[in-house]
Amino acid sequence: MRRILTLLWLWSLYMTMSAQRTETLLSSEWLFFLGEAQGAEAVGYDDSRWQQVAVPHDWAIHMPFDRNNDLQSVRNIQNGETTVNLKTGRTGGLPYMGKAWYRRHFHASATGHTWLSFDGVMGRSDVFVNGRHVAFQPYGYGAFNIDVTDVVTAGDNIVVVRVDNPEHSSRWYPGAGIFRPVTLTETGRHEVPLWGVQITTPVVQDAYAIVKAVLHVRSTGTDSLTVSSEVVAPDGRVVATYSQHYAPRQDHHLTHHLRVPHPKWWSPEAPQRYSLRVKVMAGTEVTDACVTPFGIRTIAFVPYEGFFLNGRHTKIQGVCVHHDLGALGAAVNEDVVRLRLRMLKDMGCNAIRTSHNLPSSLLVSLCDEMGLMLMIEPFDEWDTAKCRNGFHHFFAERAEQVLRDMVHHFRNAPSVILWGIGNEVPNQRDAEGYRMVQRLQDIVHQEDDTRPVTVCMDQIPYVLKNGFASPVDIPGINYNTWNYDQAWQTWDQGLILGSETASTVSSRGIYKFPLALKAMATYPDHQSSGYDTEYCSWSNVPDVDFALSEDHPWYLGQFVWTGFDYLGEPTPYNNDAWPSHSSVFGIIDLANLPKDRYYLYRSVWNTQSHTLHVLPHWTWPGREGQLTPVMVYTDYPEAELFVNGKSMGRQRKRRDVSPEADSLAVLRRYRLIWENVRYEPGKIEVVAYDQQGAEAERKVVCTAGKPAAISLSAQQEGMLTMYTVTITDQQGNRCPHSTNRVRIRISGPGTLAGIANGDPTCLTPLGSYEMPVFGGQLTFFVRRSNVTDPVTIAVSSKGLVTAKTTN
Ligand code: GAL
Repeated sequence: MRRILTLLWLWSLYMTMSAQRTETLLSSEWLFFLGEAQGAEAVGYDDSRWQQVAVPHDWAIHMPFDRNNDLQSVRNIQNGETTVNLKTGRTGGLPYMGKAWYRRHFHASATGHTWLSFDGVMGRSDVFVNGRHVAFQPYGYGAFNIDVTDVVTAGDNIVVVRVDNPEHSSRWYPGAGIFRPVTLTETGRHEVPLWGVQITTPVVQDAYAIVKAVLHVRSTGTDSLTVSSEVVAPDGRVVATYSQHYAPRQDHHLTHHLRVPHPKWWSPEAPQRYSLRVKVMAGTEVTDACVTPFGIRTIAFVPYEGFFLNGRHTKIQGVCVHHDLGALGAAVNEDVVRLRLRMLKDMGCNAIRTSHNLPSSLLVSLCDEMGLMLMIEPFDEWDTAKCRNGFHHFFAERAEQVLRDMVHHFRNAPSVILWGIGNEVPNQRDAEGYRMVQRLQDIVHQEDDTRPVTVCMDQIPYVLKNGFASPVDIPGINYNTWNYDQAWQTWDQGLILGSETASTVSSRGIYKFPLALKAMATYPDHQSSGYDTEYCSWSNVPDVDFALSEDHPWYLGQFVWTGFDYLGEPTPYNNDAWPSHSSVFGIIDLANLPKDRYYLYRSVWNTQSHTLHVLPHWTWPGREGQLTPVMVYTDYPEAELFVNGKSMGRQRKRRDVSPEADSLAVLRRYRLIWENVRYEPGKIEVVAYDQQGAEAERKVVCTAGKPAAISLSAQQEGMLTMYTVTITDQQGNRCPHSTNRVRIRISGPGTLAGIANGDPTCLTPLGSYEMPVFGGQLTFFVRRSNVTDPVTIAVSSKGLVTAKTTN
């Protein structure tokens, strides 16, 4: 109750203050046309036959997969390819390419300043307001604000967006269309322009913090102004105020220092957020008011010692993520992002690298709120191409703007600890490449001197010689664990970031025999082994990175490639290996279901609660008597395995194994492995023992019988519910080989938002009402249009009793 009252109070305060600023999300009532529509920017254009869509929108995500979509013939130098190869599924096998148009009417009061903000439009976009061209943005992941004050009129206006998404423009599925929110902001005559507030905390101590706010104020007219700032604490109390009168100038930057007593420090464990309320007044008239969330925390990257957050040594336990959300595509959705971040946090992950693209505003604000640190990175290529139609075409002209916008947009977010300037750019091999590192880093430093810059490098033998890494604050190494020592000795920074690690490949619930470490292993079913022993020719198993992190203080920690499977880049099945449309690098699959690897990372990273996970499943008809190794991912040091009651012996983790150890030995530091188990149906049971040798926990996995039932569970997040379907036998054991096709029926105020089973070879479109399960499971999302009326879901499959649930 107290919380609700506080929220109401905050809200009423905000409403009074923001009388002169309105923000309207333009989400519904967009009209959409796929294809070229000459002249559609004209106000009176006939759009009566266009399709109504909601924004965020991704036009391609639910379309059919096809091998011929965006076939790319390339030589991927990064991956060591020596010939040109035909890449199938590189961008997900989905038709993101082409031109499209959007139109929407909006009402403006036109009494002060009017802004249209696009959080991202994939790919090259032109924006027209009332028939006039007002912006061109060639960088699809970049947010942009357009001051349309001079173009809008009081009453009805129309915004039109033309998108051109060229083929061969990406190495992964980029999405298609207005895939992030659009906002209309109206301010008064004197305003704080969008992104016009910069907050830093030059002094942070237990007793107090000094908050420095640099405020950009734009005025029209001759009024003298009062600009006031208030710091609002996480509990809603105003804890510091500052007010300043001044004679007007057109453009003014004011600096306010505010003293906050006993600050609550932001951290992943306690993501406490403050906000700064700024009010611009001419006499008693409030002409603009805005609220900017921020956090109070310190970061330090100390040579030889590592990374310190709020003075505490902290290893980066991070994952790289692309922007797509599986079955929902690139259209950003708060509920799915929340659900995903929650999974990462439970794994013990404390950081995300937004590879290799600027994130949505939503991701950053949720990382602030939920407590995940961020490394934000805009570029996968500079002026030298990786993709024929990639951003390199615009780099010379636009890179500086992209970087300045990046910093302006996200500089107040406490979650952001590092800025990236590029990923594995081909310029790493150039003798002059270091000049560009210096130039881009300087731009970022001009805008923000509170966070370091990193560049992610994979061409280590080159950069060790050509000085590419010399200017950068923090050298980031992608893979190349065998080069860490030499790099560490060669470079002066005294720190190394594992900016991209592992690229271990696995398919959920699929296991390959015999158990072995393998690079680039391929199989007729186009899957990779769930034993987490397969990786790329340039990468390694997770265990190597764990060991490096544990053994070296100068190793800042890592960003694993990747947190989630994503659409496109189906390595090792990317060279003419259709059907394969999505990656298998993920710790969690495309359907948001954790793979075994999730528990491996959890067992090392989550120090708050125990992990005890057994693999593989124990349903292997036809493998009777054959070697079927068992692994346990656990934070307990020791465990004993029983097969149908017979002990297979105790295993203890081997703390002494070095990261360079050969074959399976390297795994024994973080996993318990029983290699010589022969399969017999029944049950396997693992008993875990704690440090003192006392029994701590048990886990049983049973052989499943024939598919007999459908189990349906629901996880609600805001207006979206994720349903998980599991095919089980009579006893409720998951049937891991089931490929049952299930059919979804929805009644009540709900619509299907997407469906996925995590199988990269499954060609059923991600918006279908029917799909086969994979590893016995799939998930689908239902979007509610109201929260009051019940939604009933029925899931059926031939020969099984239909499962129903209402909520
Ligand atoms: C890296 C690259 C990533 C992804 C990954 C796959 O070289 O930075 O974008 O391609 O390889 O292992």
